[in-house]
Amino acid sequence: MNSQMIRIVTIDGPSGSGKGTIAQLLAKRLGWHCLDSGALYRLVGLLVHRASIGFDNAAKIAEYAEKMNVRFSQGRINLDDDDVTDLIRTETAGNNASKVAAFPEVRQALLKWQRDYARQPGLVADGRDMGSVVFPSAEVKIFLDASAEERARRRYNQLKEKGLDVNLRNLIAEIRERDERDRNRSVAPLKAPEGALVVESTDLGIDEVLEKVLEKVRSTFPDLVV
Ligand code: DC
Repeated sequence: MNSQMIRIVTIDGPSGSGKGTIAQLLAKRLGWHCLDSGALYRLVGLLVHRASIGFDNAAKIAEYAEKMNVRFSQGRINLDDDDVTDLIRTETAGNNASKVAAFPEVRQALLKWQRDYARQPGLVADGRDMGSVVFPSAEVKIFLDASAEERARRRYNQLKEKGLDVNLRNLIAEIRERDERDRNRSVAPLKAPEGALVVESTDLGIDEVLEKVLEKVRSTFPDLVV
């Protein structure tokens, strides 16, 4: 089925903006599929790390990205029969993902993976370039933002809750460094796509953000009851 005929909501934004949470909640409310595109970049970062390829070998990394053996099932992610769901969520995995994401060859290799997610009855896609590159014809485009300090604070609380020893200042520095790389790379830089509803979430709770997104979804698809 042509992805043009499938309803798509894209949610882009920087790390820690809450887009993953909002995308999952929205997909659940709508009964649609959900694409966490960052997980794909994180998986490629892990493969590179494990295979000791070197983070500068773009062609080889793209080859791995194309051929990786991944299975998403019931909220778990398996790479070659190894459950890596938690492993790809670390700060190191995020940084490695951001490095491999800067290569056009890698982004190209992951395009097909991502577009395959567009299935009936609809898709909520979360990432950095969902509305600009991967699904440019999506009917609803959201760009979720928040200050670096607030995003670091949210991450800090999440990690603390997991019992991890974290330093807020280091987290702010890491988030700034990752933002810098994601916003300034030459290919598919992180920015609000044309026509996107920009939601500044620094002072908003999850329910308030979700409500703003739902308003946009309702007005775009008036036949949906959500
Ligand atoms: O959303 P996340 O933190 O899981 O993403 C990890 C990294 O992957 C992020 O630093 C940038 C990259 N990424 C990307 O370049 N394009 C996407 N669509 C998703 C993630």
